[in-house]
Amino acid sequence: MTAIAVLGSTHMDLVAYTSRAPGRGETVTGRAFLTVPGGKGANQAVAAARAGGEVVMIGAVGTDAYGPLLRANLEDAGVGTGLLRTVDGPSGTAHIVVEDGGSHAMVVVPGANGTLTAIGPDERAAVAAAGLLLLQLELPLGVVTEAARGARSMGVRTILTPSPARPLPDALLDAVDLLVPSEHEAAALCGHDDPHAAAHLLLRRVPEVVITLGPKGCLYAARGGEAVLFPAPEVTAVDTTGAGDTFVGTLAVALAEGRAVPEALAWASAAAALSVQRPGASTSMPYRGEIDAA
Ligand code: RIB
Ligand code: NA
Repeated sequence: MTAIAVLGSTHMDLVAYTSRAPGRGETVTGRAFLTVPGGKGANQAVAAARAGGEVVMIGAVGTDAYGPLLRANLEDAGVGTGLLRTVDGPSGTAHIVVEDGGSHAMVVVPGANGTLTAIGPDERAAVAAAGLLLLQLELPLGVVTEAARGARSMGVRTILTPSPARPLPDALLDAVDLLVPSEHEAAALCGHDDPHAAAHLLLRRVPEVVITLGPKGCLYAARGGEAVLFPAPEVTAVDTTGAGDTFVGTLAVALAEGRAVPEALAWASAAAALSVQRPGASTSMPYRGEIDAA
């Protein structure tokens, strides 16, 4: 199997569970609080490792108390952390409110992630040795773009989760092989709410796209083919944080194993459905046996 490199964020998630999020100037009383390792990059790495992938993480944690915990969480999952830098200052944090029903809102403070403005020869070598590079948008855009272009030039397949939504430079989009936006991110990228229309437009820029639709499943389209909807298993969500990351990390493993796209998407959907039934981001990610059983 080909290895998977992840270039992305590592956060400590500080999660308050409450019946509803407060409005401006309002205070509500929460029901529970969890600190859970998160960050879209680290989440994708953990999801991929638990699903059986060989994974290396390229990123940064801080010198605060969270740094060692975030590193250990990746190592416990079996993710290679030799290229995870420790930089002076705080680790990234995500301040999350999860409402009853599982939906969430968050503030991200990048901390150490914001210092990762360029990669060096060791990181480039790790990308070159991998078959797939997973990217998101929680590091400075310049380094994401540089890594994507470098990977593309070496024939390494790039998978970008364009999250959180922001305008993307052409230089980045042109280096993406598979784009995996949520329907909201897809709409933000191309201005179309309808996922079919969005997929059609996005295919002008990237060869393959998967638009994730939450409980409705996902829409897959490749250039020259029809868009296909893959329904998600019906489950009751308690916390959707990290569901998209679980989907992408698991999908990457299936693709790295050379599985066909429909099978890979069904497997990733099963993993994401398992993750929304449990609290937290990395804590909710399933292991390979559980995904197979589902
Ligand atoms: O995708 C979920 C993740 O987004 C959380 O773990 C949080 O850290 C933010 O990066
Ligand atoms: Na979850």
